[in-house]
Amino acid sequence: LKKIGVLTSGGDAPGMNNAIAGVVKSAHAKGIEVFGIKDGYKGLINGWFTKLDSDFTLDIISKGGTVLGSARLPEFKEESVRQKAVDQLQKHGIEALVVIGGDGSYMGAQRLTEMGINCVGLPGTIDNDIVSSDYTIGFDTALNTVIESVDKIRDTMTSHNRAAVVEVMGNRCGDLVTYAAIGTQAEVFSPSESKLTEEEICIQVKKLADINHRSVIILISEKQFDAKALAKKIQEVSGYDTRATILGHTQRGGRPTGMDRYLAFTAAMFAVDKLIAGEGGLYIGIENNQLVARDIESTLNMPKPDRTQIINKIRILNSKQIK
Ligand code: F6P
Repeated sequence: LKKIGVLTSGGDAPGMNNAIAGVVKSAHAKGIEVFGIKDGYKGLINGWFTKLDSDFTLDIISKGGTVLGSARLPEFKEESVRQKAVDQLQKHGIEALVVIGGDGSYMGAQRLTEMGINCVGLPGTIDNDIVSSDYTIGFDTALNTVIESVDKIRDTMTSHNRAAVVEVMGNRCGDLVTYAAIGTQAEVFSPSESKLTEEEICIQVKKLADINHRSVIILISEKQFDAKALAKKIQEVSGYDTRATILGHTQRGGRPTGMDRYLAFTAAMFAVDKLIAGEGGLYIGIENNQLVARDIESTLNMPKPDRTQIINKIRILNSKQIK
């Protein structure tokens, strides 16, 4: 193996730069050249390739986002579009690829492998929705951002005896909500997998108002409610002066945490080892603190971890404070 490429795809995530650095350093150590591909699969079909030096790895490891740029390219599902990518790679003599991204990038990596370009994927997304990995690159940083924001919102809600609806990202995965609810002791939380109705939320907040609870945090996963309309409804039912905050893209940026840097770099080293061994069509994950490589096809059928038990236990604890 003489030349490999690396790209970041889908929504960016803190730690992606550490993964890029891990690919560059471990490939260079084995005498392999690394080409950075700009803007994900879009750059792949357009031949936007730049040779990466080892020097640049130090400049990028503390930065959020991805220095390579990222994009979503739904057309990559089409074989004729993927053929353009294969042609570009062959023209540049690039034999294999590391794809850093979320589940939207999975199938592209699998199909390219079938077309003769070995690809290994790294789980890069703040959503933590890649079932083949206990954690994804970016989740820890985003979680800490959410927790820091909620702590700040709590300060002002407590000062003013208010309630706050806080909307959190995660696409269809509620992990950011569940983990942040535990980290902030949010009184009410509605993650994607265990949604509450508007009525259930209002009833719980009303009970807290009845015991003169000083402030209330209601954490909700995105794509469930209109946060402002929900805040208005809670205010009507509970009497709390209620505000809404959508944390939005603040959750995607920022310096990666130590955990994200560690996962990203070590998973990247592992991915390069797999490519050197001539393997492809794999997705790297972390399971019980061990890096694992799984066939992309098999990861698609893995069950999602069940958080119901922990969600219910926390809800019971929260309800105890009402009695
Ligand atoms: O997948 C990461 C993510 O931030 C999701 O949590 C969110 O639903 C989506 O991307 C937002 O995408 P965009 O940045 O394109 O608005």
